[in-house]
Amino acid sequence: MNFAHIVGTGSALPDRIVTNQDLETFLDTSDEWITRRTGIKERRIARKSEQETTTALATRAARSALQIAEMTADQLDTIVVATVTSDRYVPSAACLVQKELGADNAAAYDISAGCSGFIYALEMANNHIKAQNAENILVIGAERLSAILNWQDRGTAVLLGDGAGAVILRRNSGQSGLLSTHIKSDGRLWDLLYSENGDVAVPEILAGLDIKPFHLKMEGNRLFKQAVSSMVNIAEKALSVNGLVREDIDLVIPHQANMRIIQAVAEKLHIPMEKFFTNLHKYGNTSAATIPIALDEAFRSGRISKGDNLLMVSFGAGLTWGAAIVRWTI
Ligand code: ACO
Repeated sequence: MNFAHIVGTGSALPDRIVTNQDLETFLDTSDEWITRRTGIKERRIARKSEQETTTALATRAARSALQIAEMTADQLDTIVVATVTSDRYVPSAACLVQKELGADNAAAYDISAGCSGFIYALEMANNHIKAQNAENILVIGAERLSAILNWQDRGTAVLLGDGAGAVILRRNSGQSGLLSTHIKSDGRLWDLLYSENGDVAVPEILAGLDIKPFHLKMEGNRLFKQAVSSMVNIAEKALSVNGLVREDIDLVIPHQANMRIIQAVAEKLHIPMEKFFTNLHKYGNTSAATIPIALDEAFRSGRISKGDNLLMVSFGAGLTWGAAIVRWTI
């Protein structure tokens, strides 16, 4: 049997920090409201610069994951990038990352599955490895959501941010690493979070955004409820398929959208909050990038040890949701 072991993690964030107080200067909102309703205190917002494009952030995260994996880019045979904010419609972000890395032996493609994109990408990568079509795969979640926000809409502008995270998966016969992935969608609910064409005004304090000609529209309250029930259901399925009980899970890395969503998921799964890794107070919701950024921070800060069982669980536009169970190997 082949298993996909995670042998490296990395992440990259734009330099510019935008606090809740910064948002108060141009939106009818408050630090108190944002903190209480979401847990977010600040987010990173990319500048229009070659160093902070989606490709550049993804490439930086990938380089740092390659370093941990002690390998060079030419050893990669597949690159999968999960994103809804690639720099160009054509070609894919993955091909642009491939060029930047000099990963000349790889096949490269993107996955679009909203905030669940990273789990979807893990599923694809896992299947390549199980089918023996690949040995070393780079999986990235990278977003520049600041480019597709309506900065006059307090219902979305306060929630999202920019960043990238990456993992390297390596084929191994040891029964560890990715134990399972589960993904699910419901296109009937597409209109709870979607993009709409139209120009938006950018406040002076955020000068230098590389804005796209469309922006997100969201029905936050209904999404909230869908997020909780879908994440709980798919996490329970992932546990039962692996014959695991909640006590077997050492750390949960949930999609970082809203602290109240995470708390509700923790309560319904009967897993204590201490086992949930969160960093959304610093970065907000970076969509497909939240889980790999959190995974990288958790690993580098010593929150994950060899042999630990990790549950990753996500939810996003589509609607899409997914879960992965990993037995840590590094
Ligand atoms: N500042 C101040 N007031 C606000 C803001 C804001 N930024 N946004 C909304 N409000 C007001 C509303 O207008 C409303 O006022 P009213 O009572 O006078 O009508 C009040 O606050 C309550 O609004 P709700 O939408 O009911 O607030 P809720 O508690 O649901 O929180 C939130 C809103 C934070 C968006 C929440 O629903 C949420 O996080 N949903 C999940 C959506 C999400 O994370 N989407 C991102 C991508 S999908 C995903 O990753 C899950």
